[in-house]
Amino acid sequence: MELSSLFLNSWLVKNWKITLAALLVIASVNFVRYITKLQRYTKIFKFSKHRKTLLDGEEYVCADFNSKGNKRAHNDTTPNISYVPALKVDKHVIFNGATVTLPGGPKQFYELANNRRSVRSYSAKRIPPFELIEECIRAASTAPSGAHTEPWTFCVISDPNIKQHVREIIETEEEMNYAQRMHRQWTADLTPLRTNHIKPYLTDAPYLILVFKQIYGFLPNGERKQHYYNEISVAIATGILLCALQAAGLNSLVTTPLNCGLALRRLLARPENEKLLLLLPVGYAADDCVVPDLKRKALEEIMHIY
Ligand SMILES: Cc1cc2nc3c(=O)[nH]c(=O)nc-3n(C[C@H](O)[C@H](O)[C@H](O)COP(=O)(O)O)c2cc1C
Repeated sequence: MELSSLFLNSWLVKNWKITLAALLVIASVNFVRYITKLQRYTKIFKFSKHRKTLLDGEEYVCADFNSKGNKRAHNDTTPNISYVPALKVDKHVIFNGATVTLPGGPKQFYELANNRRSVRSYSAKRIPPFELIEECIRAASTAPSGAHTEPWTFCVISDPNIKQHVREIIETEEEMNYAQRMHRQWTADLTPLRTNHIKPYLTDAPYLILVFKQIYGFLPNGERKQHYYNEISVAIATGILLCALQAAGLNSLVTTPLNCGLALRRLLARPENEKLLLLLPVGYAADDCVVPDLKRKALEEIMHIY
């Protein structure tokens, strides 16, 4: 008796019109959400039935640069003479497997990789020979790439005037990035690393390597050429570059200057198909260089055995 009178006298029942309206709004929002989700999955399903690929997030879908069209019957694998491979391969040759190895094996490589730290303070006096940089970029160029498109360009700057210009571009943008563009959580997450918009390493480091991804290339006849998975390919090449620099006893830092791509591309007169992916200052750590005392995840945390 008491419970039912409590219920009948409750705010929700007394204001039943508002309660009903609120419930209707919640139900409609959920309904719209459900339908949108359903539509998305139906689209993915239709697409995957056609291409035999189930998209998990965003994956590469070929662009039709040359307007040749891509219509074909389901499962049609017959060669089409209007498509010529961009890559010319005369023959396949015998490969004897990995014959060049480190004397200390992967343990030695781990020691080398684990010795790498992001350096934000460089000696302006100790200048590594340019040949070392060349060798490291040569190593990076061995990276695998989507359909062997090698979609990378490495620009090496040692000219103090150009470095100064790069610094001005980046510091101006980074001031705005830190103050306005980046989410407060982002800038908060960076405080332990003590980074800010002032970047003396851009002029102190003897070299700046700007890594561009070529989002497409060109065929000898001037037509555009597909660069599949170009960002992944360039990121792998940069990983090799970092290891090579470490092996050469050099220090570096991976940076992603937000909103500076266009200005830096124009400064270096790079073509439109090249987009700045990363900028690496390279040199020797300054005598008073400090790095955050970071811990790396344990093997058990990152590896799952099946
Ligand atoms: C994709 C990527 C972007 C990064 N961007 C910046 C950056 O813009 N500025 C910076 O000072 N460090 C940057 N870093 C460096 C990271 O902060 C650093 O790798 C991380 O704190 C781990 O430290 P460690 O490299 O010494 O192991 C970046 C690293 C990566 C992989």
